[in-house]
Amino acid sequence: MPHSKITGVGMYVPETVVTNNDLSKVMDTTDEWIVERTGIRERRFFKEGEDTVSSMGAKAAQQALERAGKKPEDVDFIVFATLSSDYNFPGSGVLLQRKLPFRQIGAVDVRAQCSGFIYALSIADQYIRTGTYKTILVVGSEVQSNVFEKSDRGRNMAVIFGDGAGAVVVEATDEPNKGILTTKLHSDGRFAEELYLEHPGSRRKERFNPDMIEKGELLPYMNGKLVFMNAVKYFPEVIREALADCNLKESDIDLLVPHQANARITVAIQKEFNLPDEKIVSNIDKYGNTTAASIPIALCEAWEQGRIKDGDLIAIAGFGSGFMWASALIRW
Ligand code: ACO
Repeated sequence: MPHSKITGVGMYVPETVVTNNDLSKVMDTTDEWIVERTGIRERRFFKEGEDTVSSMGAKAAQQALERAGKKPEDVDFIVFATLSSDYNFPGSGVLLQRKLPFRQIGAVDVRAQCSGFIYALSIADQYIRTGTYKTILVVGSEVQSNVFEKSDRGRNMAVIFGDGAGAVVVEATDEPNKGILTTKLHSDGRFAEELYLEHPGSRRKERFNPDMIEKGELLPYMNGKLVFMNAVKYFPEVIREALADCNLKESDIDLLVPHQANARITVAIQKEFNLPDEKIVSNIDKYGNTTAASIPIALCEAWEQGRIKDGDLIAIAGFGSGFMWASALIRW
C-alpha cells in the first residue's frame, strides 16, 4: 500500500521587517514586554499590491516543487491552509491553482487556524494512502498584519502575529518505514469563542456596519491565559498519542517542530519532553506567530540548516483557535 513522503519544502516571507521597537512607536508596548511574554523580536508584514496569501503561498510552493524536482503539471491536488484567505470566497487554493499555473486539479482550503498545516497534511496523506493522488501540494500561508489594530486597544494581539508562507510537496512512496507515519487530529468547539474573530460572519442580518469598527468588533479576541493553559496540556498529549500509535518513545524524536505560538509555550513543551535545544525548532523571534504557515516555515528553515537528516524522526504539533490541535510523525 502506498503511503506519503515529504519530498520538498519551501517558504516565503515578505521583505518588510517590523521590530518590537517599531510597534512601540504606534502603541503602548515595549520590546522588553514582548520579548519576555512571547520571545518575539521581529515579524514580517506583507506589502500591499505585492504580497497576498495566495502569492506568498505560490512562492513557497515554487521553492518546494523545485526541491522535489517536480513541475506544477505533476501536481494532482492542492490543500491550502489559511485563516486569512485573499477573498472571503472563493478560497486561496484556487487562486494558487491559477498562479503557477497548475492543471485544472482540485484545490481545497482548510480552516483549522494554528493546526491548519497538520490538518492539511493529514488530508494529503489520506488521499495518497487510498491511491487517489500521487503528488499533492500542501501550503500554509497567512496575512495577519492587517487584521490587528496597531493601537493600544489592539496591542495584546498585534504584537504576536506575523505574515508568511510555507509549503511542502507530498508524494506517494512504497519505501517501508519512511514518510508520514501517523497524523492525529482533535478539536473541542466549546472553546470556539476563546480565540476567534466574529465578524464579518453570517450570524447577523448585517455582516458588518460602521458601528462595529468603532466598537472594535472587527478585531480578533484571545483569552491568552486560557489558550496558554490548554496549549501546554494538549501539545504534549497529542505528541504522545502519535508516538504510542507508532510504538515509539519520546527519546526516539530527533527533531520537534511545534507551531510557533509563543516561545514560552515552546519552552514548556521542550521541558516536558526533556529535549536539548538542538532537538526543538524555535524561530518565533524572527517571524512572530504565522498561524498555519508557522510549521512549514520552521520545517523549511530546519531543513535548510541541515537539522533534518535522512531517517530522522520528526514530530510536528499544533494547537490553536477552535480549539483545534494536531500532530504528525514523519520518518524523513
Ligand atoms: N504591551 C504591553 N502591555 C500589554 C500588551 C502589550 N502588547 N498586551 C497586554 N498588555 C498589558 C495588559 O493590558 C495587562 O495590563 P494590566 O495588568 O494593567 O491589566 C498586562 O499587560 C498583562 O496582560 P495579560 O493579558 O494578563 O498578559 P499575559 O501575561 O497573560 O500575557 C500573553 C499575554 C503573552 C498573550 C499570554 O497570555 C500568553 O502567552 N498566552 C498564550 C496565548 C498565545 O501565545 N497565543 C498565541 C496565539 S494563539 C496560538 O497560536 C495558539
